[in-house]
Amino acid sequence: MPFGLSDRVKSIPPSPTLSIDAKTKELVAQGIDIINLSVGEPDFGTPEPACQEGITAIQEGFTKYTAVAGINNLRKAIAKTLKEEDGVEYEMDDIIVSNGAKHSLFNVFMAVCNPGDEVILPAPYWVSYPEMIRLAGATPVIIETDESTGFKITPELLKNAITSKTKALLLNSPSNPTGAVYTPEELQALAKVIEQHDFYVISDEIYGKLVYDVRQVSIASLSEAMKQRTLLVNGFSKAFAMTGWRLGYVAGDRAVIKAMTTFQSQSTSNPSSISQRAGVKALECFDPQVVEVFRRRRDYILKRIEAMPYIQCIVPNGAFYVFPNVSGVFGKTYQDVTIDSASTFATLLLEKANIALVPGEGFGAPNNIRISYAVSDEDLTKAMDRLETFLQEVK
Ligand SMILES: Cc1ncc(COP(=O)(O)O)c(C=O)c1O
Repeated sequence: MPFGLSDRVKSIPPSPTLSIDAKTKELVAQGIDIINLSVGEPDFGTPEPACQEGITAIQEGFTKYTAVAGINNLRKAIAKTLKEEDGVEYEMDDIIVSNGAKHSLFNVFMAVCNPGDEVILPAPYWVSYPEMIRLAGATPVIIETDESTGFKITPELLKNAITSKTKALLLNSPSNPTGAVYTPEELQALAKVIEQHDFYVISDEIYGKLVYDVRQVSIASLSEAMKQRTLLVNGFSKAFAMTGWRLGYVAGDRAVIKAMTTFQSQSTSNPSSISQRAGVKALECFDPQVVEVFRRRRDYILKRIEAMPYIQCIVPNGAFYVFPNVSGVFGKTYQDVTIDSASTFATLLLEKANIALVPGEGFGAPNNIRISYAVSDEDLTKAMDRLETFLQEVK
């Protein structure tokens, strides 16, 4: 690296999940049977009709550049879905498709943030938000939450975080990592505060189809005023198990979508033409069975954790994560090693119990760990057995 790196990239910290990930790979390479509960993708396959449509697209030679914001058919199909499932009306030109929701979010921050702007970010948060906000030159303003409010912000907490520099509020419901889902009433209460101010709501609804016992409501659907200020982000990775296809989208104010399209035109151009064709089909074939499988696993894991010492978990109503509080083990020891943090706990679990999971520090939640249940029932059972045995040996 003889000529140096930009200050921009030097300021990005390595992913907090990286060290656990590297250690996991090292142990797996040594032939150790690790159960990986750190995964952020469904363990089932992309729906067959979507795969077939991708194959057909290739066979038909649909393999060239498309319109930067995505093909008309896909943007129309997304508008139809948002109308029928979320009750929000958009036209094709209010929608831009990108290379995954992560790319969509990055484009949003780049399109709306200036240096000095503040973006309100409730913690626990998905690890990429703070870094994306900083890359766009803005400052994340963190609102801490914990189990006492179900990991959700209240109107009071929101009011206290708003300043003259607030450019946006980031909402992620259902949440990664907590699985928390805002009720319609909670969203209404937040909207009442938001509508008195001039800032965007960036609503990441990528886990929206994966909800249990509750209804998913988009904050954009609450009123015309909320629709106008909401940039609704969603994607195909989680609901349709299409993580590798890289397809996400934003719906919102047409001027913002146009600016994002210009930005995308000078950076990545259109998302894969093949993925776009598959995406049109995928929207027609969501399998509700998936929700039942995840619900069953969630209930299983919660029941097992309830019977374990030191750790406590509130019931998450969405996504495929549970986010137990492990502060009960802090200060205790396992085979003479003092457990002083969620990271130490996760490292010990990996090395001694052979379970990989993500410690909460990177999510802005140092008392918790994230367990993904997007793994087979068999692995989940084995992992819970291992966790229980480990905790019984904590002194
Ligand atoms: C909350 C949240 N938003 C966005 C994404 C990005 O998903 P993708 O870029 O695969 O569409 C993820 C992926 O883990 C996520 O958890």
